[in-house]
Amino acid sequence: TYVVTEACIKCKYTDCVEVCPVDCFYEGENMLVINPNECIDCGVCEPECPAEAILPDTEDGLEKWLEVNADYSEKWPNITEKKDPPADADAFKDQEGKFDTFFS
Ligand code: SF4
Ligand code: F3S
Repeated sequence: TYVVTEACIKCKYTDCVEVCPVDCFYEGENMLVINPNECIDCGVCEPECPAEAILPDTEDGLEKWLEVNADYSEKWPNITEKKDPPADADAFKDQEGKFDTFFS
């Protein structure tokens, strides 16, 4: 499966949802997540994210993010259409430590 990681927090560009063939993105207040049970591993979303937030879970150190994606995709609503990112999205791009500061 692919997972959405920290770089999405406060950016939410939503380019990813437009290309997913199985509509498996879910939207929280500060970030999106992928439902690992629905993702078919096609990989088309990865290059679409301007924040480079989407990674295959085969990369090292993504256990926490796999858990976040699995848990919250069961709680948050499905999102299938691109929408405007937050006005300050670019200011948060590439910022580190967003999980501790903003994740809810
Ligand atoms: Fe959707 Fe494919 Fe991305 Fe999985 S890898 S979330 S199926 S676009
Ligand atoms: Fe987030 Fe990137 Fe999608 S910032 S909403 S994973 S395009």
